Amino acid sequence: MKKIWIVGAGPGDPDLITVKGLQKLQEADVIMYTDSLVSEELIARGNPAAEIIRTAGMHLQEMVDCIIARVEEGKMVVRLHTGDPAMYGATMEQVALLKEQGIGYEIIPGVSSVFAAAAAVGAELTIPDLTQTLILTRAEGRTPVPEFEQLHKLASHHCTIALFLSATLTKKIVKELQSAGWSDDTPVAVIQRASWPDQKIVRTTLIELDEAMRVNGIRKHAMILAGWALDPSIHEKEYRSKLYDETFTHGYRKGVKK
Ligand SMILES: C[S@@+](CC[C@H](N)C(=O)[O-])C[C@H]1O[C@@H](n2cnc3c(N)ncnc32)[C@H](O)[C@@H]1O
Repeated sequence: MKKIWIVGAGPGDPDLITVKGLQKLQEADVIMYTDSLVSEELIARGNPAAEIIRTAGMHLQEMVDCIIARVEEGKMVVRLHTGDPAMYGATMEQVALLKEQGIGYEIIPGVSSVFAAAAAVGAELTIPDLTQTLILTRAEGRTPVPEFEQLHKLASHHCTIALFLSATLTKKIVKELQSAGWSDDTPVAVIQRASWPDQKIVRTTLIELDEAMRVNGIRKHAMILAGWALDPSIHEKEYRSKLYDETFTHGYRKGVKK
C-alpha cells in the first residue's frame, strides 16, 4: 500500500527530532508542514532537493489533494507535525480522506511540548506519594470539550495537569481548578515556546495565574503545567520513589533487610 509519513518535529529545537524522524526528512521528496512552531532550521536539515509545502491557509481537502497528487507520482511525502503528532495533531481527519484513496500512513513520534516544558522547568511530573498521574488536556474555548472531560471533573484527581492550547483561557482554568478544591497557592508553571531560543518561563500560583499571563504578555504557544509536582521547592521535601529505596527488592537488586 502507498503511504505517507507523519513525523513528530519535536517542540522547536531542531535537535529534538528523533533520529528516525530526521532520516525520513532527509529521504523525503516532499515535506509538508503547517505550524509556526516547526523550526525553519529543521526544514533546512531535510533533503535539499525536497519540495517544501507550507500548508497554512490550505483547507483540509486542498491539503489532502496536494498529498494524493504527489503520492500518485511515486513521491515520498513527509508531513511534519509540531511536538508529537498524537497530541492535537488533527492527523486522523487527513488519514481518513487518504485511506479512501488507498493511501496509508506511518507515524514517527516526536518530543511533545509537554515534555519539553517539564524539562525547561526541571520538573518531574509524577512525584512519589504526591501524584502518579498526568492529565494532558485543554481548557474549553471555541473547541468544545466532552462533558465528562470538563476541567473541574479532571481536576478532582488532584494530579498534575498539562494544558495545551489554553493560554487565553486562564480565568476559566483558575475557576475550574478552584471548584475542584485546588488551593490558591497550588504551583503553576507556564512555559512559552519551550526549547526555542526565546523560551519564556513564568512560575506562579493558581490564584495569580491570570495576572501572571497578562503581565508577561503570554497569549499563545504556551504550555501550562499545574499541580504540586511543580512546587519549585520540591527537592527540599521528603518524597522518595520506592525504586531506589535500599529496602525495596526488584528484579535487578536484592533489598537490604533492616
Ligand atoms: C496544536 S497543539 C500541538 C501540540 C503538539 N502536537 C505537541 O505534542 O506539543 C499546539 C499547542 O501545543 C503547545 N505547544 C506546542 N509547542 C510548544 C512549545 N514549544 N512550548 C510550549 N507550548 C507548546 C501550546 O499549548 C500550543 O498551543
